[in-house]
Amino acid sequence: MNDLHVVILAAGKGTRMKSARPKVLHNVAGRPMIDYVLRAADSLAPRTTTVVVGHLKELLREGLAAWPNLSFVTQEPQLGTGHALLQTAGILEGQSGSVLLLSGDVPLLRRHTLGQLVARHEETNAAATVLTAIVDQPYGYGRIARVKGRISRIVEERDASPVQRKIKEINSGVYVFSLAPLFEALRGLATGNAQGEYYLTDLVSNYRRRRRVVETVVLEDPDEIRGINSRSELAEASRIVRQKKNEELMAAGVTIEDPATTYIDDDVVVGPDTVIHPGVHLEGKTQIGQACEIHSGVRIINSVLDDRVTVQNFCVINGGRLGSGVTIGPFAHVRPETELRESVHIGNFVELKKSILGKGTKAGHLSYLGDSVIGEGVNIGAGTITCNYDGKHKNQTTIEDGAFIGSDTQLVAPVTVGKGAYVGSGATIRENVPPGALAVSAGKQRNIDDWVKKRVKNEK
Ligand code: UD1
Ligand code: CA
Repeated sequence: MNDLHVVILAAGKGTRMKSARPKVLHNVAGRPMIDYVLRAADSLAPRTTTVVVGHLKELLREGLAAWPNLSFVTQEPQLGTGHALLQTAGILEGQSGSVLLLSGDVPLLRRHTLGQLVARHEETNAAATVLTAIVDQPYGYGRIARVKGRISRIVEERDASPVQRKIKEINSGVYVFSLAPLFEALRGLATGNAQGEYYLTDLVSNYRRRRRVVETVVLEDPDEIRGINSRSELAEASRIVRQKKNEELMAAGVTIEDPATTYIDDDVVVGPDTVIHPGVHLEGKTQIGQACEIHSGVRIINSVLDDRVTVQNFCVINGGRLGSGVTIGPFAHVRPETELRESVHIGNFVELKKSILGKGTKAGHLSYLGDSVIGEGVNIGAGTITCNYDGKHKNQTTIEDGAFIGSDTQLVAPVTVGKGAYVGSGATIRENVPPGALAVSAGKQRNIDDWVKKRVKNEK
């Protein structure tokens, strides 16, 4: 397949999205739709990949910056799909082999299908091979007209006769073209059609008239070629991807109690015997180990959970690393660069940011721990707060192994609590606490006898 080149059309306006963002950058199940197209194409190891851009081209190029080895060509103005492919002449004319033409807004195509299409094209030495599908609702698509079983032309909806409109075999808009005759044929296209555009589809009748071979591959699952033109179609494509993802995970041993309300992005990994309750979102590059339990209302983004982690209801975990046996929540918030090592326990209303908590450490209630390095077996009392920000800089709090932080403590960073030290409740710790020491900072308690009685008398 070394002689394969890929071209992805993405110059169109995407008017029906009503968006200031390029259509093909809108997310399908957590990834830009064009990402799916690029990954599928990449699996064929093409020699070159070219994206035809036009509308919002700067934003689109920025959005694709993470993809190496992409070439861009600009189509301006956009005079139709044939005109779009012609813009790649500077890169592809004179090259050998063939070009696989894809659309940036058709994300559900499988690698397997593309492989089949390319293989058929090569086996038959065709000038063009068209991917088609048989659908119940062909409205809007180009129809495949056949003579004695062989494709003779593609007729667009707006140019079709009532009889042609009844044809249920449609053009997916995905093709393989041999490069040798391609550019001369593209330059021969005319605009004598209902839309006044250079139709790429006219190559089929041109080639057939010259007795060139045009092949077709008929798709088994027409869902694969769903194009996305509106927000409603975007939601539908996401639903299809999610459903497939959930099915794959369940087949691999994950319990998903209610697949209809479970939103797992395409790249997420989940180990067997993990139980996912309803209303859970697993996003980005999240990885969940085996035998974890994720309760309802949880959102986990770009995080790694080892085995046997329990996440109670309504936690948000973003950019965290949770070791095996960690329990967390309900209502906990893990922010980026946080690492909870083996068997850490985090309770309700605890916020963690850029912090490491060592093995077996506990923070059960109502705390903020930010920019902190906390050792093993530490007990963080209810209401403990690291005062990490002095108005200008973020400062670090260090709590060494086995320390005990009493409830309602403020740790004014930078500050260190030494190994095994105790901090009495209600303390404001501004200076380091040596290992093994007890730090107290609250004033001595004073009781005023009969205060209530006196107050009542004064009020009369
Ligand atoms: C096209 C096909 C039709 C097929 C359908 C499948 C033609 C003439 N018709 O129709 O047979 O059933 O796709 O979805 O090709 N684009 C450009 N530059 C342009 C025009 C389009 O880059 O000048 C891009 C669009 O961004 C889009 C793709 O080409 O990614 C298809 O364009 P679109 O206008 O959606 O094609 P259809 O009219 O739907
Ligand atoms: Ca069009």
